[in-house]
Amino acid sequence: MENDTDNTFQQPAGRRLEGMVALITGGGSGIGAAIATLFAQEGASIVITGTKETALEKVVQNIQNKGGIAIYAVQDVSIEEDWKRVIAIVIGQFGKIDILVNNAGITGNLLAPLQDRSATEFMQVLSTNLLGPFLGIKTVAPYMKSGAAIVNVSSIAGITGNAGGNAYTASKGGSRMLSKGAAIDFAKLGIRVNSIHPGYVETPMVQNMEGAVAFKNMAVGSTPLGRGAGPEEIANGILFLASKESSFMTGAELVVDGGFTAF
Ligand SMILES: NC(=O)c1ccc[n+]([C@@H]2O[C@H](COP(=O)([O-])OP(=O)(O)OC[C@H]3O[C@@H](n4cnc5c(N)ncnc54)[C@H](O)[C@@H]3O)[C@@H](O)[C@H]2O)c1
Repeated sequence: MENDTDNTFQQPAGRRLEGMVALITGGGSGIGAAIATLFAQEGASIVITGTKETALEKVVQNIQNKGGIAIYAVQDVSIEEDWKRVIAIVIGQFGKIDILVNNAGITGNLLAPLQDRSATEFMQVLSTNLLGPFLGIKTVAPYMKSGAAIVNVSSIAGITGNAGGNAYTASKGGSRMLSKGAAIDFAKLGIRVNSIHPGYVETPMVQNMEGAVAFKNMAVGSTPLGRGAGPEEIANGILFLASKESSFMTGAELVVDGGFTAF
């Protein structure tokens, strides 16, 4: 049957984040560095934060060398005062904030059965992975206008459990549901909040962990596509959630896992 409709996808004119200002936590390495680089290429002004100044400086330098706009601020996402200082820097430098990506995260020991984990370590993981995004949304959203977007980087560990991952899984499940609660709270202001759920991604987080090789074999072995993701494959999903292309999505979960959770 002949189809006279032109269904060719039209790329919108200009870059996808032109003129926007984006704050990305944990931007000094891995997925955060990939998000910052991609967002800068798409026309956004970037503020990356994290605990390791040298790493942040390097990512900012790389973006500036390619003609992008980027600055960094040292921040511990679990400290409310740090968030207040960071939002003052963002507003002082760029006058507005359009996108927040709560990306910073730690795993804790991914191989510790629950009965062997200390309450102190459990709370450390929750402080970074769950309290951090809560404080981020609480501090940044009041400066956002209708059309702004928040993305929480959760994990497939926020959807399925795994042996020894109890603290990380609890934190990422929390981040997933925090996104939904915040999505409803901020919908009337036109601010969207979504979560992304990567599978195994080749970054320092998993490359440097105890038992890295065994963990990778387990993760890749359970991934139908048979490999881990590159950080830029996750950044592409976050770009979609941060851009106007996802304008009718809020409180949603974008799974980018090579089929891990399809079983
Ligand atoms: N790598 C994976 O397989 C994978 C899978 C699913 C989800 N994730 C999530 O993706 C996000 C990025 O992780 P990544 O894989 O790029 O690892 P990564 O270790 O390269 O990046 C995490 C970044 O967060 C920063 N950070 C840690 N604690 C912080 C704190 N308290 N305050 C501010 N910054 C802090 C680190 O310095 C680092 O730059 C994390 O939330 C992680 O849980 C990763």
